[in-house]
Amino acid sequence: MKFVYGCIVVTMLLCSSSALAGVSLPAPQQAGGMGLFEALKKRSSATGGDFSLAEVTREELSTILWAASGLNRGDKGWTVPMWRGVPPYCRVYVAANDGIFLYDWKNHSLEKISNENIKGKIGKQSFVKKAYYVLIFVSDAEILSQFNSTDITRDFSHAAVGAMTQNVYLACAALQIGTRYIHAINVDEIVRALELPQGDIPIALMLLGK
Ligand SMILES: Cc1cc2nc3c(=O)[nH]c(=O)nc-3n(C[C@H](O)[C@H](O)[C@H](O)COP(=O)(O)O)c2cc1C
Repeated sequence: MKFVYGCIVVTMLLCSSSALAGVSLPAPQQAGGMGLFEALKKRSSATGGDFSLAEVTREELSTILWAASGLNRGDKGWTVPMWRGVPPYCRVYVAANDGIFLYDWKNHSLEKISNENIKGKIGKQSFVKKAYYVLIFVSDAEILSQFNSTDITRDFSHAAVGAMTQNVYLACAALQIGTRYIHAINVDEIVRALELPQGDIPIALMLLGK
């Protein structure tokens, strides 16, 4: 009997850990599509009423995450500028219907960190929950600690998130996906749900939807 219970417990543990394991992403689109100047002409914020929970595909999410902070030149060059080429000091999380994922730019993959749907809790505006995906941009205190100045860490992380989110705007324009930058966020809820280490600061959301 003890053996049977042991087997059940081990199976349950294996199931729950695989549910939170890494999730591969399809290759991002890196050629073709809308030209840069047309995307610049079309860049805009979707309004709250534009988000309808229609699916954004894994392919589209993959391309948007790559645009936000993916590698574009070997293992030390990114789609966004980073001070002296140090690794991205802002992380991107994805809040989805089936949980929360951390974007791993090294492997261009997602790591599931929670099964919770937090879309309805992290923004102060009710339409945030209607986005199919919500990207969450968070400064990384560990990497930023090398600057030894709170002013610099704040300025650099905001510069990084500005570049990342503008890339998201342009990728979304090219893919014809609605997006919107959101500053009105529930910081405490994000810190709790993402189990952020001390010093990591949620900066903004980008809504993705059709
Ligand atoms: C720093 C910043 C903070 C913003 N915060 C919010 C926000 O909390 N909620 C919101 O609905 N839109 C927010 N926006 C989106 C702006 O309202 C939007 O960009 C603006 O209306 C201009 O529209 P456009 O992006 O289509 O040019 C923010 C934009 C920026 C740049």
